[in-house]
Amino acid sequence: MADDQFKNVISHAKEYGFIFQSSEIYDGLSAIYDYGQNGALLKNNIKAYWWGAMVQMHENIVGIDSAIFMHPTTWKASGHVDAFNDPLIDNKDSKKRYRADVLIEDHVEKIRQKIEKEVGKAAKRFGDSFERAQFESTNPRVVGYHEKIRAIMDRFVKSMEAEDLADVKQLIEDEQIKCPVSGSMNWTDVRQFNLMFGTQMGSVAEGASTLYLRPETAQGIFLNYLNVQKTGRMKIPFGIAQIGKAFRNEIVARQFIFRMREFEQMEMQFFVRPGTEMEWYETWKQKRLAWHKSLGIDASNYRFHDHEKLAHYANAAADIEFKFPFGFKELEGIHSRTDFDLKQHEEFSSKKLQYFDPELGENYVPYVVETSIGLDRMFLAILSNSLQTEQLEDGSTRTVMNIPAFLAPYKVAVLPLLKKDGLPEKAREVMNTLKFDHMVKYDEKDAIGKRYRRQDAAGTPLCVTIDHQTLEDNTLTVRYRDTMEQIRIPMTELSALVAQKVSLSAQFSKL
Ligand code: GAP
Repeated sequence: MADDQFKNVISHAKEYGFIFQSSEIYDGLSAIYDYGQNGALLKNNIKAYWWGAMVQMHENIVGIDSAIFMHPTTWKASGHVDAFNDPLIDNKDSKKRYRADVLIEDHVEKIRQKIEKEVGKAAKRFGDSFERAQFESTNPRVVGYHEKIRAIMDRFVKSMEAEDLADVKQLIEDEQIKCPVSGSMNWTDVRQFNLMFGTQMGSVAEGASTLYLRPETAQGIFLNYLNVQKTGRMKIPFGIAQIGKAFRNEIVARQFIFRMREFEQMEMQFFVRPGTEMEWYETWKQKRLAWHKSLGIDASNYRFHDHEKLAHYANAAADIEFKFPFGFKELEGIHSRTDFDLKQHEEFSSKKLQYFDPELGENYVPYVVETSIGLDRMFLAILSNSLQTEQLEDGSTRTVMNIPAFLAPYKVAVLPLLKKDGLPEKAREVMNTLKFDHMVKYDEKDAIGKRYRRQDAAGTPLCVTIDHQTLEDNTLTVRYRDTMEQIRIPMTELSALVAQKVSLSAQFSKL
């Protein structure tokens, strides 16, 4: 069922011009995608909402746009050359390659699902008097599952920290984790694989130096932190935000735009006084969750996942997970990165990266709390959550994408009822009153019902229909995508109504 839903999302994304496989006529390029005419608009709107919420709504956050190529020492200092690795394992029968951590996490997720099943059964049995926490802490079977999960994760974290890859393989064997394709346990050893793409700068091979395509946008912020702080006269705490491409040679690239080799990140580094980072970490966890919830997607689709195994730069980290069609997965990371990056860049560049705190009268290297969200994953979250097949009262069905109106690619479709009698000309007049403020679509082809359905499926929140009465009294029909309700209003009221329904500023005031 979930599989069907996901396939539906992928085919709908193509059919309605949201996402195409990159280089499709050459049979595509694995885990690389292009955004089509509707996709590019939706993506830009998501960016605008994030940028506005971060930069426009916070006096102490500014935005930059740094280059993708950075000095190669950047990646030595940041730890990416030595530690940005995935532990990989191959199944000898299916010849499929997996990330060992993902195999283990999927295995743990199956045990979690068993817990959910027990909880569901008990909730039914006990009715209103059911107390989940008490049940989970006393039911022997569930307690056993929890202990098993803890033991697996503790061992995994310990082996990874000790770089004991032989034990990671042993754990996979001990847990009898099978290849999802061949069903066998005929595994190779676990190996580390660096995820950065390298390329050459310079025209002659001898003189060329190896550059990396940045695997995260954050380092562009770290390297510019003092430039921004000084030229912007920023006082701690302050943030620097950035939206941009990142590249990772993902070995197990799958699940459509969830895991890509070229993707976009929206990151913000918040520079704070040492010792205050945990407060800010909690604050940003809550602020970012509030941003997600402001989209109107049901809150049950989000959860926090606190990391047990921390990245080489973090002293605390959590994911905001979203319920994608293939289960709860990471959508955004919030990381307390300490002073690791700036200290490393101080050491490798031999330049001071200290901040003078006028209140304390002392210099220090700031601590950093980071929020990092994948733009493409956010896109997928919105797309998969909004695509619905509705059963209508007359027994028919309709496909509708109830994308939040302020994010929708087109805000209004203007539809002359007929292609004659001066209705197209009147419709063009209506378009001209709206197009300076909004993306507006004109459509005169096919019967009106079919045109409504086409707009529903593309996520257009408002349709405006021009008919013969419009010519007589300058009124028009507005049809709402979500309720299919139709109202008749004077043409003079249209601009205000559209502005109110799709306003980004109204959305900001909810944050
Ligand atoms: N600067 C910190 C950082 O890059 P991360 O957890 O590796 O942290 C942050 O990545 C976010 O970037 C993730 O939460 C995810 O949304 C997105 N992301 C990471 N790898 C991705 C990929 N291969 N494809 C699409 N999005 C990805």
